[in-house]
Amino acid sequence: MAVRKLLDEIYEVGALHYDRELFDELIPLPDGTSYNAYLIIGSEKTALLDTVDPSKKTKLIQNLDRINVKKIDYIVSHHAEQDHSGSIPAVLERFPEAEVVTNSKCKKALLDHLDVPEDRFKVMENHEELSLGNKTLEFINMPWVHWPETLVTYLKEKNILFSCDFFGSHLATSNLYVQDRRKVYLSAKRYYAEIMMPFRESIKGHLNKIRDMEVDIIAPSHGPIYRDPDFILDAYEEWVDDKTKEEVVIPYVSMHGSTEKMVNHLVDHLMEKGISVSPFNLSTTDIGDLAMALVDASTVVIGSPTVLVGPHPKAVYAAHLFNSLRPKTRYASLIGSYGWGGRMPEQIKDSLGNFQGEFLEPIVIKGLPSDKDMKDVEKLADKIIDKQRKDDLVK
Ligand code: FEO
Repeated sequence: MAVRKLLDEIYEVGALHYDRELFDELIPLPDGTSYNAYLIIGSEKTALLDTVDPSKKTKLIQNLDRINVKKIDYIVSHHAEQDHSGSIPAVLERFPEAEVVTNSKCKKALLDHLDVPEDRFKVMENHEELSLGNKTLEFINMPWVHWPETLVTYLKEKNILFSCDFFGSHLATSNLYVQDRRKVYLSAKRYYAEIMMPFRESIKGHLNKIRDMEVDIIAPSHGPIYRDPDFILDAYEEWVDDKTKEEVVIPYVSMHGSTEKMVNHLVDHLMEKGISVSPFNLSTTDIGDLAMALVDASTVVIGSPTVLVGPHPKAVYAAHLFNSLRPKTRYASLIGSYGWGGRMPEQIKDSLGNFQGEFLEPIVIKGLPSDKDMKDVEKLADKIIDKQRKDDLVK
């Protein structure tokens, strides 16, 4: 049990999950995560902003008991995903007078995902306000941060934006506020890369809205709270910006060494020309690290051998991830090898339907790379360098 005080009558009552290893049974969590829930006590009413993952519902109830909460009038649900909404039924059971406050889309999603009676909802319009007496909550819709129903809450008297997933970081830390800025920056970037990058365009609009507001504190639903909102707003503005960095990311897998030789040659040649390059061996890499590298990179080159006449399944996985995360990458290509034949390049290229940039001619060779094959790898590196340097969107 641990209740952390933001300000008088405003508490963080959620739960840290230090030892959670995966999110969505997919995303590695090297630093665990937290499910932040905020209690705001007004002169007349009390509101709980979000709940916690169902696995931590007992912790939430214990935290509320610890500060002797006798009545909750409103449970504000910003987002129907269960890591924030999943304990709403438990809180409703403990506080039977509470209403679930949300927008109409989130209400529908909550009815789809949770066992909450329909008559327990109070539906709010965009920018509608709810008075707690001496405190006022304004609800602002922020759809497609990564789900379509999401809203945030602005506590007007204190200029606090409760942003739910937006600006969050999977980081279980006892620090309520950001202390280690570098650590939080990387965790927030990883979170953006894995969850929000496909929604870059809608996030740009939301950032503009927030820049027009007076915000002194941003309190997300994962990770530490920002007392310096510019720290995370500036970071997000850079991540969503159309400009890329002069960097090459190479997710690759190699079975008998041919593809690896080509990858190493490509890396060496790019390095000697002063280009930032990040190879990721897909047999061992953390996909979160790969996703983070995709946030800024201008170019992605996938490396794959041929297995069962197609790409290696790990290369298929990387291509699918690249396609689904929709990074702002300007150039893509493919290098690899085959034993006797196959349709590896066509299958990789066909899987990149969302990619809006230029696909450079792949280099796919038979067996061990010859001197000529290595010269072709150098030519690909030179082409990448030339394209990146002439591109106004690459800085
Ligand atoms: Fe933290 Fe989209 O849930």
